Amino acid sequence: MMNDLQLPGLFSLIAYDSIDSTNEEAKRLAETGAAHGTLVWAQSQEQGHGRRGRSWVSDPGNLYCSFILKPDRPVHEASQLSFVLAVSVAKTIDKQFQNQNIANHVQCKWPNDVLIGGKKASGILLEMIPRNNHDQASIVAGIGVNIEHFPTNTEFQATSLKAEGLSDVSTESFLEMLCDQFSRWYAIWLTEGFQTIRQAWLDKAFGFGETATVRLATETYSGVFETLDPQGSLILNDHGNRRHIAAGDVYFDPSVRQIAD
Ligand code: BTN
Repeated sequence: MMNDLQLPGLFSLIAYDSIDSTNEEAKRLAETGAAHGTLVWAQSQEQGHGRRGRSWVSDPGNLYCSFILKPDRPVHEASQLSFVLAVSVAKTIDKQFQNQNIANHVQCKWPNDVLIGGKKASGILLEMIPRNNHDQASIVAGIGVNIEHFPTNTEFQATSLKAEGLSDVSTESFLEMLCDQFSRWYAIWLTEGFQTIRQAWLDKAFGFGETATVRLATETYSGVFETLDPQGSLILNDHGNRRHIAAGDVYFDPSVRQIAD
């Protein structure tokens, strides 16, 4: 398949027509020594998967790709990359709208979804493989972006770039722009640290100041979405009682939600 994309030097592309999952392929490659910046891209996936073992519909027309990253950072910092990627995806989608002079409302939903007009357009799946010593990891960062189509039977409503009025975006051009954004935000993360990424993410946060419910493995917890802590955990405030949520699915009550422009 065509793979003569113009990508920043950091990335080395491996392209497939179809594969089980770009994340699975990236994990196999990472285990056999693939370099930092290896990028696996497929036109379709037979077993695409999302967070918490959910399946990810992966017919041709959407973007399915996974980056192999080996940052010289301890594991607890490497997980910040999901925010680096979410900001990169959101900025890439923003630019597509700007190119066509269409007003839009692109937001980041904790932990790592990107929404257009409150509907999910992209999901990110970060997986870690231990490396060197137990305090470093190879990161496989998988990204799915709904360009041509979106699933209709999902718990959280989805959309696609096409459904939002962007009819002539190709997976190739989106991937090129995403790599451009990601190389910039990755460099910012390395030089300025998580604080700048956290602020860029918060500037686009969905549900900020609203009541959120988080489903954890053994309990459900509600509170006002106050901010992110310095590690990227969601801080929910339940009548003055602050709770830091490191992982979980978050839901906002649509009856109390108002999207500000
Ligand atoms: C989510 O929102 O649950 C995360 C979805 C991640 C989907 C992408 S598509 C490319 C990569 N390969 C996979 O199997 N999953 C990720």
